[in-house]
Amino acid sequence: MKYRRPKRALNSAETVTLRMERMAQGGDALSHLEDGRVCFVSGALTGELAEVVLSQNKKDYAKGFAKKILEPSEFRTTPQCPFYGKCGGCSLEHATLEFQLESYRASVEELFRRFAKTELPAGWKIHSGSPYGYRNRARLVRVGKGFGFRETQSHRVIPVSSCKVLTSGINKAIAENVFPNVPELSVFDNGNGKISYYYKGMESAEFEKFAMNSVQIEDVSISMDSASFFQSNLEVLPELVKTVKKAAGTGEYLIDLFSGVGFFATVLQKNFKKIVTVERDANALFHANKNVPGAHNVSSPAEDWLAQNDASGADVLIVDPPRTGLPPSALEAIAKADPKKLLYVSCDPATLARDFRLLSENFGYKILNAEGFAFYPQTPHFEMFLELKRS
Ligand SMILES: C[S@@+](CC[C@H](N)C(=O)[O-])C[C@H]1O[C@@H](n2cnc3c(N)ncnc32)[C@H](O)[C@@H]1O
Repeated sequence: MKYRRPKRALNSAETVTLRMERMAQGGDALSHLEDGRVCFVSGALTGELAEVVLSQNKKDYAKGFAKKILEPSEFRTTPQCPFYGKCGGCSLEHATLEFQLESYRASVEELFRRFAKTELPAGWKIHSGSPYGYRNRARLVRVGKGFGFRETQSHRVIPVSSCKVLTSGINKAIAENVFPNVPELSVFDNGNGKISYYYKGMESAEFEKFAMNSVQIEDVSISMDSASFFQSNLEVLPELVKTVKKAAGTGEYLIDLFSGVGFFATVLQKNFKKIVTVERDANALFHANKNVPGAHNVSSPAEDWLAQNDASGADVLIVDPPRTGLPPSALEAIAKADPKKLLYVSCDPATLARDFRLLSENFGYKILNAEGFAFYPQTPHFEMFLELKRS
């Protein structure tokens, strides 16, 4: 398989032969140059010997791409996507799903060792589903008459006629090109035949017609729209719901922070008498009020709500922040509120490990259960769940 050289000016186009030691964060393999510097290599796998073209030659580290694999790994596979190596969406398509799952495991464990000085519970479970055709949400960028995705290491957009990780519904929407004049289009496939769309500046009548959607999870229909956040792997999502439900159990008072359309509160509402959801995106409030009508649904940054309200007395507090993790003031306020159970859902294991370190060192939190969810195969992204308790 050929990797195209990044378009940016190269510091050095030197070719070196390297043995890959392990996978690093972000889907590159890690190796060392003769002078001792770490070299991150795209397109290579643990154990492989490869001819590597250096694309960045920094003082402390180098980066390169595998031009030729001299000794391939038994876990190497042929990428299915014609844009692979060029489109910035995927970086692990040259590895089997089995290898990808083990890389996620190794990478999360390493992050917890490095950032949190903690071992995850032995044999922690990883849930996974289809390696392709899973992604039910996409933001498409206009290029020419069609759509595309951002190129690796650049802001340029390459035209993409179809994408292997997207659901067939979203690929059909790309082919149909329903809104030919919009520069960006958010598309959502509810897994049940309904595709919804959102573009900036959409008028409210159009929003009603094209953006509104709903997702069925177990026996609950969850109202959402294409402008708001919603999870993007509907095949594995029920596993996360089961895990969160089991950990949450039943109780009097549930707080769901970074709640989107009130997602976790919706599936847990039968089990709690008093519920508060807090979400920054004002657009999501309409849905939270519909999805969890008995709750106090708040449109606010979680850190502001925590600063202005007494969050103590919760049986369960769920946080599901964006990749940046918890703002420090929110983390401190949550620990002070001292919920009986703290459930942390994370789409970035690095910030999760960072936050867990603060929770454990400053407030005595321990991990009762950890589970992983391969929501984004072929990419280095990975979802984690931690059930935490104060000792
Ligand atoms: C990973 S999503 C999770 C949403 C929801 N829990 C779900 O599963 O659908 C993170 C959510 O946090 C929201 N968000 C980002 N920063 C926030 C903040 N400071 N306070 C509250 N919500 C925030 C985003 O708008 C997004 O809806």
